[in-house]
Order: sequence, then C-alpha cells, then structure tokens
Amino acid sequence: MQEIQSIIQKIRKLGEGEKRFEHIDLTWDEQMQREAPKKYIEAAIELFHALGGKTIVEIGCMRQPMNHPIDELHPPCCNDGHSTIYWCLSGARVYSADISLGVVLLAKKCLREYRNGKVVWSDGLKFLRKFKGRIDLLFLDAWDVLPGTQYAENHLLAYLAAKDKLQKRNIVVIDDTDIGGGGKGRLLLPVLQADGYDILVSSRQSIALRL
Ligand SMILES: C[S@@+](CC[C@H](N)C(=O)[O-])C[C@H]1O[C@@H](n2cnc3c(N)ncnc32)[C@H](O)[C@@H]1O
Repeated sequence: MQEIQSIIQKIRKLGEGEKRFEHIDLTWDEQMQREAPKKYIEAAIELFHALGGKTIVEIGCMRQPMNHPIDELHPPCCNDGHSTIYWCLSGARVYSADISLGVVLLAKKCLREYRNGKVVWSDGLKFLRKFKGRIDLLFLDAWDVLPGTQYAENHLLAYLAAKDKLQKRNIVVIDDTDIGGGGKGRLLLPVLQADGYDILVSSRQSIALRL
C-alpha cells in the first residue's frame, strides 16, 4: 500500500507546469507545445503493476510507427503516443481495438515481437460490449477531438460499455484532456468522479484510479 501511495503522489504532480488550451483546433506550433503522453503512460503502468494488474484494454491503437529508440522523445513523432508499444512492453495482456484497418495492419507490424499484444479491427464500443475478460487498466484514446464531432460523448459511452468488466480496483486513462475543457474526458471525468474514482491527474492525459 505504501508503494501505491508513493506512485499516487508522483502521478498527482505529473501535470504541474503544463500548458493547457481552451480551444480544440490547435495549430501545429501549439501541438508541439503540448506534453507528450509518454510520462503518463509510464506512470500508469507503474501503478498498474503495483495493483497487481494483468489486463490492459486500449481503444484507439497506435497509428504512428516508432522509428527511434524507445527512451527518446521526438515531439512530431511522439505526440500521438505510441501507446500500444508501451502497454505491450509492460508485459501485461494487452488488447487494442481500432476501427481503421490501415491502423490495425500498421500496429500489427510494429508489434510483431510482442506476443502479449492482440490488435483487433473493430469499432471500440462494439469491442467493449462483447469483451469477456476483466480489465485492470482501460485506456481511452479513439475518437479524435474535432469540431462538430461526438468525441466527448463517445469516450463516455466507451467507459459505460466497459464498466461491468472493470476489476474492482482499476485505472482509467484518457488522452487529450488538456484541450477544449477536458477534450476526450470532458463528459467522462465528472462521471468517473461520481463513480468513486480519484482523478490523480488531468492534463495531457488523465489518470483515474478506483481502489
Ligand atoms: C489518437 S489515435 C490513437 C493513438 C494511440 N493511442 C497512441 O497513443 O499512439 C486514435 C485512433 O482511434 C481510432 N478510432 C477512431 N474511431 C474509433 C472507433 N469508433 N473505434 C475504435 N477506434 C477508433 C482511429 O482509427 C485512430 O487510429
């Protein structure tokens, strides 16, 4: 429990000093000023291990190959996150669903060496509704934050579809919560709070924990 508490304290500080944007149509320069997802993903994995987690489910697969050493950060390349590689590196059982066949094929190629990762070509909501296992960490990063689209609604629906599959103690991570009043988490974060989650950080990514 002490280990969990010290990871929690570390995560609470992750967003300190980060720039946030109230609008969503960011210029390339503004995109490059954003924090990359890497440090959030790594911290979430640390917490996942401390909780004894086994299964990670991701909605929205990596769509950018990693053409540099894994410990380096190259803002134009790493703004999306390469999340699926990091989840697989954790050693957990990883399921990643994406609606785009092109993305699925690219991710499968990038993940060839990781036997613990399964990439599924599916709409994220359909995938979650059919999913039979138990989820320790749910990562929501699908519907892009674009004007006039239902990105906030759909990320909320994704959590609701996964809710009865989440382990009692679980982590929900959401990307792109530093833009547009909460971005992908605009509607979901208040619901998580009402469901008893502790929102440890809410900046480039949000990490919510239920113990
Ligand atoms: C921002 S990218 C994901 C980036 C990735 N998580 C990373 O960190 O590298 C969003 C992905 O969500 C996928 N997507 C969009 N709508 C979806 C849906 N309804 N179901 C599943 N995936 C979807 C897109 O095809 C795209 O590949």
